[in-house]
Amino acid sequence: MSTAIMTMPATAQAPPLATHSAISCRGVTKEFVAGDTRVRALDGIDLELPAGELALLVGPSGCGKTTLISIVAGLLEPTRGEVSVLGTNLTRISGGQKVDFRGKNIGFVFQQYNLLPALTAAENVAVPLIIARHPRHQAVARARNLLEQVGLADRTESLPTQLSGGQQQRVAIARALIHEPRLLVCDEPTAALDAHAGQTVMELIRKVAVQPDRAVIVVTHDSRVYGFGDRIVSMTDGKIDKIEIQNGKSR
Ligand SMILES: Nc1ncnc2c1ncn2[C@@H]1O[C@H](COP(=O)(O)OP(=O)(O)O)[C@@H](O)[C@H]1O
Ligand SMILES: [Mg+2]
Repeated sequence: MSTAIMTMPATAQAPPLATHSAISCRGVTKEFVAGDTRVRALDGIDLELPAGELALLVGPSGCGKTTLISIVAGLLEPTRGEVSVLGTNLTRISGGQKVDFRGKNIGFVFQQYNLLPALTAAENVAVPLIIARHPRHQAVARARNLLEQVGLADRTESLPTQLSGGQQQRVAIARALIHEPRLLVCDEPTAALDAHAGQTVMELIRKVAVQPDRAVIVVTHDSRVYGFGDRIVSMTDGKIDKIEIQNGKSR
């Protein structure tokens, strides 16, 4: 099934990976300032993640997980440090170039799905392509194809309220994959789901998103899904304190 995704027309335009690293962070620090208070959310993060793997980013609430993946996804600027994604140094390109890079190369899945309530599942999945000015009928046809691959062939015309939480998250994953991003970032995608739906969603992410030339980062503090990661990056207090490699993979 995943081959169908691979054979869709490629829209990604990042340069080929120069090294084994899909993601590279060097001394990434992020400080938030609100009035007189300054919060150091990230404190000198160094991290290399290869393509072809699913990396889990874990750690207690408030340790900086969302901040780190937002910087990696180009949604937030670091205060200091450099970030390279798929061979492009995000810290050295303009805001407009970053928007363009993100649109072509990065898919984002949020904890709360963020589906548009008035649109069907197929229309929700098609939105990124429609925004990128693809013809609507083509976009929706491709969305239906992707929904089949995430096991929702019979729900393409359902509204979000007619779907379970797990089904809505599968729609959100299909939406994040429709432009064939080479980096998929998921922020606590199983947090609002029961154990079974959470497992199904993680199996799906592995099946459809883990490809040799792509990188996947999933933030979670759900220890039940730890087995799905090739690599577990543990954070505490804005720092990475441990990286474990699982599933017999080696660097
Ligand atoms: N926009 C913001 N303004 C001020 N502080 C923030 C902002 N975003 C995050 N923080 C703070 O940065 C720290 C890390 O937050 P976050 O990255 O959301 O953690 P996590 O995702 O691991 O729960 C927390 O102390 C949080 O309160
Ligand atoms: Mg978070």
